[in-house]
Amino acid sequence: MDNVDYLSVAVDIAREVGPLLLQHYEQRVAVEYKGEFNLVTTADRAAESLIVERLRNRFPTHSIVAEEGGGVDRDSDYVWHVDPLDGTTNFAHRFPAFATSIGLVYRGAPIAGAVYDPLRDEMFCAEKGAGAYLNHQRLKVSGASRMNEGLFATGFPSGRRHKEMNIHFFYQVSMLSHGIRRAGSAALDLCSVAAGRLEGFWEIGLNSWDVTAGLLLVEEAGGKYGDMRGGPYELGGLELLATNGHVHTEMVELFCDIYAGRYRFPLIPVS
Ligand code: IPD
Ligand code: CA
Ligand code: CA
Repeated sequence: MDNVDYLSVAVDIAREVGPLLLQHYEQRVAVEYKGEFNLVTTADRAAESLIVERLRNRFPTHSIVAEEGGGVDRDSDYVWHVDPLDGTTNFAHRFPAFATSIGLVYRGAPIAGAVYDPLRDEMFCAEKGAGAYLNHQRLKVSGASRMNEGLFATGFPSGRRHKEMNIHFFYQVSMLSHGIRRAGSAALDLCSVAAGRLEGFWEIGLNSWDVTAGLLLVEEAGGKYGDMRGGPYELGGLELLATNGHVHTEMVELFCDIYAGRYRFPLIPVS
């Protein structure tokens, strides 16, 4: 691995995209459908073009995986995973929770990541082995050791709804914790775990561009991630659980019970 300051590049580009997103946000963007409920806006495309152009100019030999398809496939050890606008549904409805996520993977492992929330001017960033930061302040996961002391987040992908089983997990976690937030940006949810604002986050069906930067933040802030059954998580894998580390085993045990059909709290019928 070479000595380039990849993180600064990712941070600068993510910050540059902020005003572009905000301009579209103020104007109310035109929405198109990629699937039945899967939205894309002119802002997603404009932001992605800018990010990909900047990365291509700076690192012409690197691969880029970008959500809206503008990436480049090269034979490289370095792969950028780019979500130009994470939280598109929020953005389209003017619900204020979205971010740009830019992560770099070297030989399969995240080494640099930036997630920028332009509405709050919050820049979350992390470099492998060098810690995670929010606007220059070092981040550390929360110290809560039990689920019943914790606040959690999850998400529901816009596609594959008929296969979605997360509602079972949602209900069981809601019965055992301070509650669950579903704010609509997986990248920001992961940053919230890194920042100690949440004890854990899980989702079924995320993509590499949603999570590459956020997972490095969680790890560098002292947290832990894996699949939802206690195994390792591969980028782009189906199930993801990221926590402050302390509640990880408790959550995996709960999730294994749910997968096995052992529901600790039966859903009451609607009467
Ligand atoms: C979505 C958000 C959302 C998550 C979905 C993602 P997008 O990304 O991260 O929180 O629940 O699974 O697809 O489409 O807004 O970039
Ligand atoms: Ca996304
Ligand atoms: Ca997106």
